[in-house]
Amino acid sequence: MQSKPHSLFDLSDKVAIVTGGGSGLGREFCDVLAEYGADVVCPDLYKERADETCKIIEKYGHRTLPLQSDLSRYDQVRDMFRKVMDNFGRVDILVNNAGISARPARISEVDLDDWHNVINIDLHGVFYCMREGLKIMIEQKSGNIINIASVLGIMVTPPSVLSVPPYVAAKFAVVGLTKEAAGEYGEYGIRVNCIAPGFHHGTRLGGKEIPQTPQPKPSEASPGVIERTPLGRTASPEELKGLLLYLASDSSSFMTGQIIAHDGGLSVW
Ligand SMILES: NC(=O)c1ccc[n+]([C@@H]2O[C@H](COP(=O)([O-])OP(=O)(O)OC[C@H]3O[C@@H](n4cnc5c(N)ncnc54)[C@H](O)[C@@H]3O)[C@@H](O)[C@H]2O)c1
Repeated sequence: MQSKPHSLFDLSDKVAIVTGGGSGLGREFCDVLAEYGADVVCPDLYKERADETCKIIEKYGHRTLPLQSDLSRYDQVRDMFRKVMDNFGRVDILVNNAGISARPARISEVDLDDWHNVINIDLHGVFYCMREGLKIMIEQKSGNIINIASVLGIMVTPPSVLSVPPYVAAKFAVVGLTKEAAGEYGEYGIRVNCIAPGFHHGTRLGGKEIPQTPQPKPSEASPGVIERTPLGRTASPEELKGLLLYLASDSSSFMTGQIIAHDGGLSVW
């Protein structure tokens, strides 16, 4: 079934990549991009997750490509882009979403493996994908990058609420990379923006990626979060679809270098 989206949000003939699109927020991003007309590539560490997402979005009638990729490894990022170019010949929208969180700990107690695991995917993975994606977009003289940081990329919470230093460090860096890239590549018609989500329930944020570590969802781990959120609740992942679509489409054609919080107001304090 082909959808007939309003032209303000039409993504027909666009090719989109959503890293870590196999679950959580990434799956919602794949869904809304396909619903509004894009062909969607879904690289994920776990092929079965990518396959499942692509199966779900098949109903919109556009092309999909599930891939197994560890995007914390530069060789695999290069390989992923090679496959996308072989199959589609272009990249219009790149959503850098793949990420994990860390066990809560103050800086002096952070486990070094946790530090490296989180920095490797949440920061290096985003940088690698931007590096390769930008090369293609420069050639095209067009492109749209949407980085998924976190509200913990624009603020910190008191240690009594949540302390995840490697995650905070990586997400603040992604905010910086977003602004840097927007400044560097505007002349090529490339836009780079960033979403800073607050707490969205029903997503994994870690889990198997850090062995032997049960990963409480932030909303469960941090009761103080809801008390500090003006809207008094966490969000469902579907609530992020509209903002992603806005940034991915020509509706936001004059916007670049912006960091938009989707956090129920948590970051106003
Ligand atoms: N869920 C939230 O409340 C929330 C809040 C703030 C920011 N975020 C950010 O949103 C993004 C998605 O989070 P989520 O909660 O949907 O997590 P999730 O765990 O549900 O989904 C992340 C996906 O990324 C994949 N992934 C992990 N490491 C990878 C790697 N090395 N290579 C390729 N794929 C990899 C996982 O397999 C998974 O499918 C993350 O960047 C996260 O930091 C989420």
